[in-house]
Amino acid sequence: MNKIKTYIDGFDEVLDGGIPEGHVVLICGTPGTMKTSVAYSIMYENAKNDGRKGLYISLEESYEGLKGAMLDLNMADIDQLPVFMIDVGRIRKAHAEQELSKGWLEILTNYIQKRVEADEFDIIVIDSMAALYSLSPLKNPRADLFHFMRFLKELNTNVFLISEISHGSTSLVANDEDFLADGIIHLTMHEAGESDVQLRINCIKMRRTKHQRGWYRLMHTGKKFTVTPIISD
Ligand SMILES: Nc1ncnc2c1ncn2[C@@H]1O[C@H](COP(=O)(O)OP(=O)(O)OP(=O)(O)O)[C@@H](O)[C@H]1O
Ligand SMILES: [Mg+2]
Repeated sequence: MNKIKTYIDGFDEVLDGGIPEGHVVLICGTPGTMKTSVAYSIMYENAKNDGRKGLYISLEESYEGLKGAMLDLNMADIDQLPVFMIDVGRIRKAHAEQELSKGWLEILTNYIQKRVEADEFDIIVIDSMAALYSLSPLKNPRADLFHFMRFLKELNTNVFLISEISHGSTSLVANDEDFLADGIIHLTMHEAGESDVQLRINCIKMRRTKHQRGWYRLMHTGKKFTVTPIISD
């Protein structure tokens, strides 16, 4: 089975080599847990190391904001790599008025379909599902989402969906995304000791992979993400 690496140092071993190709994977976490940075870094490193084409659909941040944040994390040469970023404003501009009266789930489905047919992207990120739902509420959330997830799986592309968890929520997702997804990567802020707050990562599920289940400390060290085992609190 072919796998794509996350290029997070130490985490591909946790995933028994990486994420099986063609999976739809959720990246879940409360606000500020570096979901965007992690997803972008996976796309960026795959473009840089393996020439994989990436499409980043940012429904929250503007193109300029996202690009700036990634440059701050030293992901340079973006313009020379096969990575393409688009934000809501640019998707709006590319669509005729009558199309915009449709729900965003349909707009996004049509947009992805067209782009994948034209450019054969290897990795697609949708950031975030919460933003997608707030752009236009779903009429039948369970059924709409079921069809959307099926559409994504049938693309046979690696898809990452960012899912925002509200503080205090016991659920990872707004609808049934966790059941429908092939994999779930969870990011949290953990209070370690009296004053230290650590970013932590674990793989909750990854179909067709013998992954580890533990929590690891996640750090961004200058240029790359790295995980290390948690020794003690
Ligand atoms: N090297 C770093 N190490 C730790 N945290 C960092 C580093 N660089 C940036 N950050 C912090 O990461 C957070 C933003 O990361 P990012 O936007 O990827 O998170 P997010 O989970 O997508 O946030 P949001 O919930 O707003 O979408 C900010 O709080 C920023 O200060
Ligand atoms: Mg984000």
